[in-house]
Amino acid sequence: MERQLALVRLLADGDIHSGQVLAEQLGVTRAAVWKALRKMADELDLDIESVPGRGYRLNRPLELLDAGHIRAGLSPAGRARLTGLEIHPQIDSTNSYLMRQAGAGLPSGTVCLAERQTAGRGRRGRTWVSPFGVNLYLSLLWRYPLAPAALGGASLAVGAIVAEVLRDLGARGLTLKWPNDLLWKRRKLAGLLLEVAGESQGPSHLVVGIGLNLRMETGQGAFIDQPWTRLDEVLDGQPVGRNQLVARLLDGLLAGLERYGQEGLTPFLPLWRGFDQLLGEPVRLSFGEHQIEGTHAGIAEDGSLQLDTADGRRLFQGGEVSLRPLV
Ligand code: BTN
Repeated sequence: MERQLALVRLLADGDIHSGQVLAEQLGVTRAAVWKALRKMADELDLDIESVPGRGYRLNRPLELLDAGHIRAGLSPAGRARLTGLEIHPQIDSTNSYLMRQAGAGLPSGTVCLAERQTAGRGRRGRTWVSPFGVNLYLSLLWRYPLAPAALGGASLAVGAIVAEVLRDLGARGLTLKWPNDLLWKRRKLAGLLLEVAGESQGPSHLVVGIGLNLRMETGQGAFIDQPWTRLDEVLDGQPVGRNQLVARLLDGLLAGLERYGQEGLTPFLPLWRGFDQLLGEPVRLSFGEHQIEGTHAGIAEDGSLQLDTADGRRLFQGGEVSLRPLV
C-alpha cells in the first residue's frame, strides 16, 4: 500500500510521468513500478493510462487531502478550535475510528479524514460507498459536559451548518430532508451519521460523520440504492478544491458544535427550516416494521418531526427512521 500511495501522489497532477523517472523517485525497478501501478489501478479504482514511449498518466487528476492546505484555509478561530487533524489514505470508517479513539482519551476538536473507507457506514445499518480520492469522508469528535440525551438535536444543527457552508460556496437549490439528508433536486449529495456515547448524566462525546459526494463517477456509485448527486454537478463548472472545502466545513462545524453546547438547537432552527424540503407535503415515515403517513408539518423546537396524521398531530424523534415523499 505504501508504494501504491507514493505513486498516487506522484501521478495525482494528471501529467505524464515516465516509468524510468517514477522508478528513480521510488528507488525501485521499472518492473516494480508497473506492478504497483496495476495494483493501484485495481485496488483504488483509478484510471491509469499508459502512453506508449512516454510513461503513465492518471486520466482524472486528483487533489489529495493535505493537512497543511487545510490548516492554511481555516480562520484563526477555526485553527484555535481544531486540536488534531488526521488524514488516512485508507481506513475502515472515520466514524468508527474516532469512536474507538474517543474511549482512549482523544481530545475534543479532533478531525479524521480518509481518502477511502473500506467499511464506510451510513444510517440504518447501510454501507456508505467510499471510493478513493473523489469524495469527502470526514469525522469530527466533540466532547460535552452534557448528558447524551441533550445531543439529540445536534444532527439537525450539523445538517444546517453543512448546507449553509455549501450555499456560501455557491451551491444553489440545496434542501434538507429530516432528520439530516442533504439533497439537490431530490438526489442525495451528503449524509450525516452522528454517534454519541457517555455517562447518563454527562459528560458525553459526539462523533459527527459527513459523507459528501464530490466527483464520484456513475460507475463508482453504481451500488448506491437511492438517487444521488455530486458537488461538482451542483456547482456546475465552478468546482471548489477539496482541501479548501474541508477548511470551510471545519470552520463552520467547529464553531457550530461549540455553539450547540452553549445554546442547543434553538439558534440553528431558522436555518434548518429554510432548507426544509418536504414541508407541507404528504410523506411516509418508516421506522422498523412500522410505517405512518401524513403531512409534514415542519420540525418542532426540539428537532422532532411534526406529522399531521388521520389521528391528529404526532411528533417523531430522529434516529433510525426514514422519511419519503408520497408523490
Ligand atoms: C447516511 O446514511 O446518510 C449517513 C452517511 C454518513 C457517511 C459518513 S462518511 C464519514 C463517516 N464515516 C462513516 O463510516 N460514515 C460517515
